[in-house]
Amino acid sequence: MALFLGMMSGTSMDAIDAVLVDFDVTPLNIVAASATPFEAALKQRIAALVDHAESVALDELGQLDVAVGHAFAGAANALLRMAGVGPGGVTAIGSHGQTIRHRPDLPFPFTTQIGDPSTLAERTGITVVADFRRRDVAAGGQGAPLLPVFHDLVFRSDGEDRAIVNLGGIGNVTILARGAPVTGFDTGPGNRLLDAWIAEHRGLDYDADGVWGATGTCDAMLLRKLLDEPYLALPPPKSTGRELFNLPWLRHKLGGSEHRPQDVQATLLEFTAASVADAVQRHAPGAALYVCGGGAHNRALLEAIGRRVAPHPVGSTAVLGLDPDYVEAVAFAWFARRTLAGLWSSAAGVTGARGARILGGIYRHA
Ligand SMILES: Nc1ncnc2c1ncn2[C@@H]1O[C@H](COP(=O)(O)OP(=O)(O)O)[C@@H](O)[C@H]1O
Ligand SMILES: [Mg+2]
Repeated sequence: MALFLGMMSGTSMDAIDAVLVDFDVTPLNIVAASATPFEAALKQRIAALVDHAESVALDELGQLDVAVGHAFAGAANALLRMAGVGPGGVTAIGSHGQTIRHRPDLPFPFTTQIGDPSTLAERTGITVVADFRRRDVAAGGQGAPLLPVFHDLVFRSDGEDRAIVNLGGIGNVTILARGAPVTGFDTGPGNRLLDAWIAEHRGLDYDADGVWGATGTCDAMLLRKLLDEPYLALPPPKSTGRELFNLPWLRHKLGGSEHRPQDVQATLLEFTAASVADAVQRHAPGAALYVCGGGAHNRALLEAIGRRVAPHPVGSTAVLGLDPDYVEAVAFAWFARRTLAGLWSSAAGVTGARGARILGGIYRHA
């Protein structure tokens, strides 16, 4: 059995997701999976780096790159212990790393993920494939989203048009319309603004099931201002990140006006739902929605999306056979497999690149 280990930590920085996947069976089998929270101090340092990019010290960047490599290795080794699998049983690790900056819009476009792959290979004894996004950016693409190619493989149906919605820190959608090639793009914020606002006002990592937001009411005028964000109306290819959708952006939209914090939370929920629902309706009207990512657990958010796309159904990717918490990590295991086999795994039609490319670098063990 040739296993691949996929690893992902998204812009929410809630955890390092790790999955051990067997691709030699149909459908693919998740042998073991785990979500390992970042140590609080490490998470805080990464957040400081991301949110204060203008004042980054190079030594801190170098330290965090290797520290995140250690954290990924710890998560990988713990998963292998739990599964009772030795390093020799794993063909490769596909590691996304932790995005700290995503700027495909600058004159020299770039995207940066940390979590040193050499450290990961050294501390696990396993070949690592990493740095999946930069080749696509070099080829003129956005470098994101990468998931649509994988969604196309596992979720396409002859029976219905589908939209796969990944609600991580940022939201992205994959359109699988019958008879048409896959498309996809970042819709805007996923959980990011919801998390940031409740963290500031209640000291919590996230608003579980949208319960706090439900104690407030959506402010229609504020919602209109948020929806005025030009990014939402841009045609694809497009991608975004914490560089745009962050607390300073929200404060700017709030202006000086007075709001109860729970009303802002309720408005952010509607904003997030509207940005996703509008994107699906514009590009795949009538598609059935399947949600993955941590946002799939937010009942209030799913209901808000559901109201906006009714009567079309909103479900979880679980009904399509893949646990919504691990779709991304499984995808990075699959990307590693493709790269080792010398096969392309990017979709130029999604990212706007000049062509499909073999993604990532290979850090061989021995
Ligand atoms: N029960 C829940 N209610 C509301 N939000 C949730 C719940 N469970 C998870 N989340 C959200 O999911 C986020 C993590 O999602 P994830 O897909 O891991 O994002 P990322 O890819 O950015 O790491 C959390 O930060 C939180 O906002
Ligand atoms: Mg996560």
